[in-house]
Amino acid sequence: MPFVGRKRELHQLAELLSHPPAVVLLEGEAGVGKTRLLDELIGFPLLIGRCHPMRFPYGPVVEALREACPPPDLNPITGALRPLLPEVAHLLPPAPPPLSEPQVERHRLFRAVLSLLDSLRPITLVVEDVHWVDPDTRELLAFLARCLPAAVNLVLTYRAEDLSHPAAEVLAHLPPHIDHAEIALAPFDAVETALLAEQLLPDPGDLWPLTRGVPVAIEQLARMLAEGRQPGTPPALRDAVLLKLGTLPLAARKLVQAAAVLGQPATERTLAALAGVPPERIERGLAEALRRGLLVETTPGLYGLRQPLATQAVRDSIAPAARRRLQHRIDTPTQPQGTLSPREEQVVRLAADGLTNREIAENLVLSPRTVEVHVANALRKLGLTSRRQLRAT
Ligand SMILES: Nc1ncnc2c1ncn2[C@@H]1O[C@H](COP(=O)(O)OP(=O)(O)O)[C@@H](O)[C@H]1O
Ligand SMILES: [Mg+2]
Repeated sequence: MPFVGRKRELHQLAELLSHPPAVVLLEGEAGVGKTRLLDELIGFPLLIGRCHPMRFPYGPVVEALREACPPPDLNPITGALRPLLPEVAHLLPPAPPPLSEPQVERHRLFRAVLSLLDSLRPITLVVEDVHWVDPDTRELLAFLARCLPAAVNLVLTYRAEDLSHPAAEVLAHLPPHIDHAEIALAPFDAVETALLAEQLLPDPGDLWPLTRGVPVAIEQLARMLAEGRQPGTPPALRDAVLLKLGTLPLAARKLVQAAAVLGQPATERTLAALAGVPPERIERGLAEALRRGLLVETTPGLYGLRQPLATQAVRDSIAPAARRRLQHRIDTPTQPQGTLSPREEQVVRLAADGLTNREIAENLVLSPRTVEVHVANALRKLGLTSRRQLRAT
């Protein structure tokens, strides 16, 4: 499939790798195109290992090095890798005798990896999906980064929202001769989305609103449309969203569910009221939902889900009775005097932006008469006498 956009990022990456030793952090949400960008690198020998959710000790480094074709005359220390790399053990020197001190043995193993990489230069070690890194590999990567031999690069890819530790830690204490950079891949803009969509479908229409430019979502949606299915949530996107939702603490999960049922960005207070989250849990719950990328701050002070398809996936995952309860709370003001219901808050925000009742009605898919009632109730609760005063709120 043709490659779309990413000229600047590809150029930056190639430039860095052309001047080893360099450490590159490549960050972006799931399906945004990190792996694809690396696929497009031409002329750079790569060894690629992936981290997996099972977090096997040294898993990604073993995966990468077992593909290596080491030259003869290796440093004897590389023999320490024999037990980890049975696939290439016959190409390695004899294993050195075991050491009684585990930390010393570990240091020897780290030096063996370094030495094997050195023997393969020029080479770039790529460790993908570092948000799933195991503790041993994490330490090994920090060690490698600081000791990178000439003509050896290190590239790490990850999703910031799934990291439990800062990936930038590998950049700490790098000697000055090691170049380093962080490259962030953003979703496509509308033009790039259309370019990719046109490669996939003869007459795709505008897929940006549903996919927000995430290439994997564009591909999956295009496939659904090509198969004549209704545009819905592609299974991979749904599973990724629900998997992540399932690992959130309860308060955060409830806020995301409330945002999904509401279907439009809302304030922290509105979401918490809808979700029934106690005040002391709101701040942490919201912070966690934001950190994990399930909610985004769409405009200052307003939070919603990133993609309509993710909204749909979350909404569909809520049990019908719970969804009805949430919907009921959205439509029924049960707040104490002086507090606006979620719907009233939405109406007030739009009225404060200068929209007429008819425009608000169209925006929120309500009747103008309902909007009028909401405006009147909100004004009364806020102690105001005219909607013009809302502009100051
Ligand atoms: N720049 C691009 N041009 C065309 N297709 C892309 C581009 N970036 C990503 N894709 C496609 O989107 C899908 C997801 O990309 P991938 O690189 O696997 O994402 P990530 O590694 O960030 O999770 C793949 O099928 C890939 O081919
Ligand atoms: Mg990938």
